[in-house]
Amino acid sequence: MRKLIIANWKMNMLRREAIHFITNIAEQQDIDLAIVPSFLSIKELKEVALDKNILIGSQNMSEHNHGAYTGEVSATMLKDVGCDFVLLGHSERRKIFLESNQVIAKKVERAVVEDMPFVLCVGETLDEKEQGETEEVIDHMLEEALSSLMDAHWNKVSIAYEPVWAIGTGKVASVEIISQVHNFIRSKLEELAGEKASEIRILYGGSVKSENIKEILSINNVDGALVGGASLEALTFNQLISEVGI
Ligand code: PGA
Repeated sequence: MRKLIIANWKMNMLRREAIHFITNIAEQQDIDLAIVPSFLSIKELKEVALDKNILIGSQNMSEHNHGAYTGEVSATMLKDVGCDFVLLGHSERRKIFLESNQVIAKKVERAVVEDMPFVLCVGETLDEKEQGETEEVIDHMLEEALSSLMDAHWNKVSIAYEPVWAIGTGKVASVEIISQVHNFIRSKLEELAGEKASEIRILYGGSVKSENIKEILSINNVDGALVGGASLEALTFNQLISEVGI
């Protein structure tokens, strides 16, 4: 499976900065690249990205498709501006915007109905890790979001394991933890998706940078990375992706 590196810009980057960034990204032959900017840069970035073979995603999406939902953006609207995929259930959405597993399950359902590929983010908090609840928490997140999917839907699904305690903290999870959790996620996917499970990408996210990306991607069942802080400067991000090919 080709590795996928996703830059999650969160609430950073104005349009001109976004365009400057993408025009300075070195093209990649051996890995897939994606950028997830603010809603407002999706259309412009998509136009430039076409020539560079970079996918453009969205950081969020409404579970509804139209109507009186002030401030929301639907899957159809995202498709209208060329968005290739959406992140669902990022821990910042769960924690700051109080998105529950139930709401995320509805968003997954919507993505499936609208034929929008998605990356479902899962991960435990520090407290849950210390209580030894990591697998239980992740099992629950996967079960709630994905148990209603049918055979034909699984090619739209990727998973990102992002331990909450490793996001933006500089504390990357150890090789042992990443390996254990990714193996666990793969076996849960086997339970849910049968033989399709082996084709589902499982990404790691949480303080990924050029110094650790190579080791992380060499772990079994790690099919790519979701990168926040280290994806905000073209120079740093180029360094990071160049490590993957070496
Ligand atoms: P980070 O963020 O790389 O800054 O830890 C990752 C993410 O939130 O997706």
